[in-house]
Amino acid sequence: MLAFCYISSVAKRKMTNFDLFFYMFIFFLTIFLYYFFVITRNKKSSSQRKGYKLPPGSMGWPYIGETLQLYSQDPNIFFINRQRRYGEIFKTKILGCPCVMLASPEAARFVLVNQANLFKPTYPKSKETLIGQSALFFYQGNYHMHIRKLVQTSLNPEAIRNQIPHIEELAISALNSWAGGHVVNTYIEMKKYSFEVGILAIFGHLDAHLKDQLKKNYSIVDKGYNSFPTNLPGSPYRNAIQARKRLGKILSEVISERKEKKLIEKGLLSCFLNAKDEKGLVLSEDQIADNIIGVLFAAQDTTASVLTWILKYLHDNPKLLQSVKAEQKAICQSNEQENHGLTWTQTRKMPMTNKVVLETLRLASIISFTFREAVADVEYKGYLIPKGWKVMPLFRNIHHNPEFFPDPQKFDPSRFENVQKPNTFMPFGSGVHACPGNELAKLEILIMTHHLVTKFRWEVEGSNSGIQYGPFPVPVGGLPARFWKESTTST
Ligand code: HEM
Repeated sequence: MLAFCYISSVAKRKMTNFDLFFYMFIFFLTIFLYYFFVITRNKKSSSQRKGYKLPPGSMGWPYIGETLQLYSQDPNIFFINRQRRYGEIFKTKILGCPCVMLASPEAARFVLVNQANLFKPTYPKSKETLIGQSALFFYQGNYHMHIRKLVQTSLNPEAIRNQIPHIEELAISALNSWAGGHVVNTYIEMKKYSFEVGILAIFGHLDAHLKDQLKKNYSIVDKGYNSFPTNLPGSPYRNAIQARKRLGKILSEVISERKEKKLIEKGLLSCFLNAKDEKGLVLSEDQIADNIIGVLFAAQDTTASVLTWILKYLHDNPKLLQSVKAEQKAICQSNEQENHGLTWTQTRKMPMTNKVVLETLRLASIISFTFREAVADVEYKGYLIPKGWKVMPLFRNIHHNPEFFPDPQKFDPSRFENVQKPNTFMPFGSGVHACPGNELAKLEILIMTHHLVTKFRWEVEGSNSGIQYGPFPVPVGGLPARFWKESTTST
């Protein structure tokens, strides 16, 4: 418009070539600006034209969004405050990514189960590089289903029940190493235990030297995983990348040996080595290695965090501890008389201990949320979730909602005597990516708890009751504690 006025005022004098060039320049500039500001800014997706609006919420500052608010406080307080202000679906922007957060059971089911094909898994590139890009978490569709079936087969109850005596050995050996009254970092020790169980589930028996090599390099990858992803020499991330390459070589050695000697071992690796897809194709060494590292990642910190919380909650609730002890000692005495170890049937019949595990999974909610990305514009309850936006079902908000779990901050295993409302309890996720390791996780937790309460006692050091994130929530300092072996197993 301004450009048009200028053109008419100068039209009275004689036009030069320069004038002509200038007018054309202004003309095209006007068209460009009109297109940019009027057409592109008003361009709406078909869903927006249909009147769907974005969810309520704040996108914070340009680019960084609400990143500072999220990282400067307990992330769970960030989510709960926004849920209170905006309701069960709200938008925000974190690390430059627009996100929609979903805090209702129906919305979580919509994303993870009913419309799972519209939401793909999404992880930062730096994490994908460390785990390996063929790991199942990063996929949807046929490849994901193929790998997932193999993982499920090797971790189903039929497969893991035979591992009970070996898991018991690992639990007893770990507990004996903590006993004596010295201070132990419970979380770090539980990580060692869950790593050993993971190795057992993947490899069956593994040569001690190879196991040590795996442990050493895996712990470097683990440290780099949650560090700032810079490739500067000496940085934890770069060290992790190098250790990840070494892990690939070690796994390749194990695979070659198993193929050469035709070694038959139970476990995930054997499943991978024998697998063929519908076209008869076998898995490549890289695909096997990436998925083995992926499963170790999924198995270790998660189970260790839950076990650490169980020790804390039992310690803080002496009456509950007595009930769990009574239940486990009865099993122990019967097994001593009959001279055998724990059986699968017994692990299915530990009602009190099982409720403690479920309540720990709820209250600690160690996986507070998960991430997906919308692959198309999606409409949900009149709101638009635009294509490319991240979507986060907030498990912890659902687990801590008083409507579903009255007095949600209270550790009360008896609440699991009642059946939960559908989709309100999802510690292992839901839908096509739900945890295939949940039975193994529960089994190793029950076995550790059985031996802990029947043969040991423990005291937590200090009175600090905070939470630290590493990245899963654990009691502050990893729950420093002292352990003693009890001289008798009688009640
Ligand atoms: C208490 C311990 C555990 C908890 C709370 C837990 C929780 C979860 C959750 C919530 C998911 C779904 C994530 C999503 O939807 O984005 C998941 C996926 C997964 N978990 Fe677990 N997990 C535990 C232990 C284990 C163990 C012991 C293993 C293996 C031995 C395992 C292997 C996996 C794998 C492979 C996936 C990815 C599945 C897929 O993408 O299809 N987890 N876990």
